[in-house]
Amino acid sequence: RRKIIIDTDPGQDDAIALMLALASPHLEVLGIVSVAGNVPVAQTATNACKILELADRRDIKVYAGCARPLRRPPITAEHVHGQSGMDGPVLPAPTIALQAQHGVDFLIDTIRAHPAGTITVVTLGPMTNLAMALVKAPDIAQRVEQVVAMGGAYSECGNITPNAEFNMFADPDAADIVLHGQIPLTLLPLDVTHQFLVTPPRLAQLRAMPGRCAQAAASMLGFSERFDLKKYGWEGAPLHDPCTIGWLLAPDLFSGREVNVSVVVDGPLMQGATAVDWWHVTDRPVNARFLRHVDSDGLWSLLADHLARLP
Ligand code: BDR
Ligand code: CA
Repeated sequence: RRKIIIDTDPGQDDAIALMLALASPHLEVLGIVSVAGNVPVAQTATNACKILELADRRDIKVYAGCARPLRRPPITAEHVHGQSGMDGPVLPAPTIALQAQHGVDFLIDTIRAHPAGTITVVTLGPMTNLAMALVKAPDIAQRVEQVVAMGGAYSECGNITPNAEFNMFADPDAADIVLHGQIPLTLLPLDVTHQFLVTPPRLAQLRAMPGRCAQAAASMLGFSERFDLKKYGWEGAPLHDPCTIGWLLAPDLFSGREVNVSVVVDGPLMQGATAVDWWHVTDRPVNARFLRHVDSDGLWSLLADHLARLP
């Protein structure tokens, strides 16, 4: 089983990524770290606890991480995700206690405690915690097996500004540190996630599933549609974060290239934009696997099959 740590800001799509990971017999979730992103960090931690309880996984611990990006005030997205960050279903207040240890220290200690090359870090929000961990403990860069991150955009431009994807925009300094971290990195940008839509038949399929996790997922995705359908005018809202876990479980569903990716750290119009050297027109070194295509039906089947295994 692949050992993973999930760093997240739930977020309806984060919640579904968590469910997908929890449902897989091939992944061992060592812990969940929360970050300020879609909503403030205390709320993303609470939301992660709610998902663990819903999935009956009280054995997995949640650690709150950074309360704001490295160098700028937090940017939240209640306008997309609702006041709780995970609007849709009414879930009880969690009884799982948040761990006392800071999320950044949990990342460092866990990566150091395991043999080098055995831990995958999945980031589903701004990369603040991982960047902080790399600054605080540079030795972990050599020990992480890989980072898999939802973030960035090439042909899809931006979703929070004309040129930037939300996770990159919210903490570009953190993304810059990770991109220079010399760690095997796979990015799932908007190019991929905008191909993975919750169409009406897919939503209906979820609504017909009996488990409480599938029901909660359907209700969350029904909520996301309200905002996203109006924004994009597509046949369904994009399901971003589950693409990361989907890639870990079924990489053959995706394609992309090994390229150099840089992030614009400052600038009123370009903050958080990713410059992707798709055609290798610079001599900048390859630092990421940048995915651009997904077999959307294949990924949906994988997700639906997994959600059906949860309570
Ligand atoms: C990303 O932004 C967040 O709102 C989503 O959860 C996802 O991680 C998409 O740009
Ligand atoms: Ca997210």
